[in-house]
Amino acid sequence: MERLIGAREIQEMVNRLAGRISRDFAGREILLVGILKGAFVFMADLARRIKVPVKMDFVRLASYGAGTVSSGKVRISKDLEIPVKGKDVLIVEDIIDTGVTLKYLFRRLKARKPRSLKTVALLDKPWRRKVRFSPDYVGFSIEDHFVVGYGLDCNEEYRNLAGIYVLK
Ligand code: IMP
Ligand code: MG
Repeated sequence: MERLIGAREIQEMVNRLAGRISRDFAGREILLVGILKGAFVFMADLARRIKVPVKMDFVRLASYGAGTVSSGKVRISKDLEIPVKGKDVLIVEDIIDTGVTLKYLFRRLKARKPRSLKTVALLDKPWRRKVRFSPDYVGFSIEDHFVVGYGLDCNEEYRNLAGIYVLK
């Protein structure tokens, strides 16, 4: 394992993202929608640094058939409990790879008529896209590495690491 992004660097980026989000949503309340499981660490830190009122909910996505979410069709396996209609919704994701996951969730939530719908991802692998999707807020753009830590796993391991590491 090789360290790619240190804990302090991540916290500085989360602060910057929270600052931008707080300014953009000034005077409003945000419904943060975290994608389980990977986004829970990022969402916990981000939510505590955002300076406007937030509510929080989570969705869990699963892919049909064998393989990973990245490879195929996606479905919602655990839906939101808070209705999104009329709300300012911000989807919180750990990493964007092919774009399939976020694009799917974006379309599903858009159909429920939120007041606004935006996306934030801590990490982005722009070269891996299979579908066109650009998040509104991005932390770090990284090369095509498989990374773990700060919520991201490999077979459920390493989610609790404070930094982000490339798995070799
Ligand atoms: P996408 O649908 O291809 O954009 O996949 C996004 C999802 O794949 C993320 O929510 C992660 O769960 C997972 N993923 C993609 N790249 C990585 C990685 O480098 N490490 C861990 N999980 C990843
Ligand atoms: Mg994920």
